[in-house]
Amino acid sequence: MAKGKYYITTPIYYPSDRLHIGHAYTTVFCDAIARWRRMAGEEVLFLTGSDDHGQKVQRAAQSKGMTPKEYVDHIVPTFKELWRRLDVSYDDFIRTTEPRHIRVVQEIFQRLYDQGDIYKGSYDGWYCTPCETFWLESRLGEEKVCPDCGRPVEWVEEESYFFRMSKYADALLAHIEANPDFIQPESRRNEVISFIQSGLEDLSVSRTTFDWGVPVPFDPKHVTYVWIDALSNYVTAAGYLQDEAKFNKWWPADCHVVGKDILRFHAIIWPAILLAAGLPLPKQVYAHGWLLTDTGKMSKSKGNVVDPIRLIDYFGPDAIRYFLLREVSFGQDARYSTEALVERINADLANDLGNAFHRSFSMLKKFCGGVIPEPADPEELDTALQALAEETFRAVDGAVRSLHVNTALAELWKLVRAVNKYIDEARPWALAKEGDSRRLGTVMYHVFEALRIIAVLVTPFMPRTGQAFWQQLGQSGRVEDQGLAASAWGGSRPGTAVQGGEPLFPRLDVDQVLEELLGEAAEKDQGAAGGAQDGGAPGTRGGATGPSGVNVTGGTEGLITIDEFAKVQLKVAKVLEAEKVKGADKLLKLRIDLGSETRQIVAGIAQHYSPEELVGRSIVVVANLQPAKLRGEVSEGMLLAASDESGRLALLTVDREIAPGSAIR
Ligand code: MSP
Repeated sequence: MAKGKYYITTPIYYPSDRLHIGHAYTTVFCDAIARWRRMAGEEVLFLTGSDDHGQKVQRAAQSKGMTPKEYVDHIVPTFKELWRRLDVSYDDFIRTTEPRHIRVVQEIFQRLYDQGDIYKGSYDGWYCTPCETFWLESRLGEEKVCPDCGRPVEWVEEESYFFRMSKYADALLAHIEANPDFIQPESRRNEVISFIQSGLEDLSVSRTTFDWGVPVPFDPKHVTYVWIDALSNYVTAAGYLQDEAKFNKWWPADCHVVGKDILRFHAIIWPAILLAAGLPLPKQVYAHGWLLTDTGKMSKSKGNVVDPIRLIDYFGPDAIRYFLLREVSFGQDARYSTEALVERINADLANDLGNAFHRSFSMLKKFCGGVIPEPADPEELDTALQALAEETFRAVDGAVRSLHVNTALAELWKLVRAVNKYIDEARPWALAKEGDSRRLGTVMYHVFEALRIIAVLVTPFMPRTGQAFWQQLGQSGRVEDQGLAASAWGGSRPGTAVQGGEPLFPRLDVDQVLEELLGEAAEKDQGAAGGAQDGGAPGTRGGATGPSGVNVTGGTEGLITIDEFAKVQLKVAKVLEAEKVKGADKLLKLRIDLGSETRQIVAGIAQHYSPEELVGRSIVVVANLQPAKLRGEVSEGMLLAASDESGRLALLTVDREIAPGSAIR
């Protein structure tokens, strides 16, 4: 198996409370690749982060009555929460406001200035602040609005420093031509080549009209313009100017994964800066397509975004991960709709994958006492399944390494379907009936060996599913710790007791899903009186096909939107233990079961409930509160209770048995 190291990056995201499932695509895509390579035994540096500076951020903060720093500090934890919920395993999260980064930006700027690659000049033109783009007058029409987002553009005239990008055009072209994989996919590479051939202009790299940025070291009334600041995050995180050994190890990056809208920044501006700074170029820049809704590209500025947290809560993280990874083809756009999502879940997860496991569990229980049998000599049907399992590893590995993650899943599902077909053809039920235990043993061994391999190979894409199947198969430890080597044929030990378990992906009824999700959207629309988006454009109504999070603010003072409410994670928790907190008459300390974890919470209910009467009850807790310390005891969450004016207190509980950890919506 290939060893080595791999440095992969997502773009750093603008701090905004409107992250959507399109953003989640890039991150989940990088995560699957990072996880695959880690399981292959490679050392991985997977970087994501936030692009904290810029005029857009400064204005958004102003509109909320915050300082830019307060604003970004408030938003960034919500990114991290989204990545946590999607099981994104980044190794480093960089913020461009960190001292380690500011130093790097200033040094690069200074170096380029000292060597004459940055010079002072001035520019003027029509500028769209939300899109951070200059437009030619001919593109604007009479109303002078941005051709991309439809908002008014501004005439700006400013003194600015310029980067002599034109000087590096030839070197860059030569590099792109000599390295066919440098820009992927091929069609995008060709676009970049023709863009460079049409002539590169020098680039404005500083601003004086706002101050939320890294000051130019030798002229602090200028701040560095957002792209030089943003792009150099990739070298900062690799240790540039801080840790030489680390930097030599990780730089150049193996792959910058970006959306097609920011390819030119990564495939032209960034390499030109690196050439000027005398640093090696990243090995690859890969531009993926966009996730579209029926109303066009999801975008924070257009307001047709789909709230990922709502989707994750509803469908679970692995269903969303699978959909994103399977649906988006290499470099192409893909369409998001709730119907398409439900269809994928039903066809690929409930039907193909779920069936392969669950029919096998029940057959093993019924015919073999739930224990993996000893195989006898294989027949052709069996060796064909083994050959396919071995071939599947190679195909998935090749596809992941060439960034064709959707193909990787398609290859893996060939094996999933082949297991179902194998069962249909080998007919274990008939063998059991005939009493052919030798052949039955061989067949069931082959089925469970293929399932074990599927559990290993599916893990980088759907980590929770891989682990759940691994346990259901009676295997011990964490599947990701086994590495991809565990997908070699023959790892199942005859005699292993298989536990089985509940289906992970029950079939969904599309009408019910639409009603539940659109019901929410409709409620939300009622509360939304068509307010402003990111300080400007009117919100677009959600299409009829999905839970397009219509992030419209406004309405009556004091009311909150459904999205604001959705930020509070309410869950059912079972009280496992309860005791008084020493030295505090009002506090009880509870250990609660939240399904996937247990936690301690501290609650001020000791004068109303005894510890004994709480144990075993299912209560309601806020699960995403920042931890606090009360009388020296850590409280990771808060239980809910009602109190009336007389001081009586009543605990919120659920009115029938439901699994701990169930979400309350
Ligand atoms: N801050 C810059 C990136 C700087 S990198 C040095 C930025 N941020 S962003 O938050 O606007 O976008 C981050 C990424 O999300 C981009 O790669 C963008 O293409 C991607 N996406 C935004 N909307 C998307 C879809 N609807 N579909 C797929 N990707 C999308 O750009």
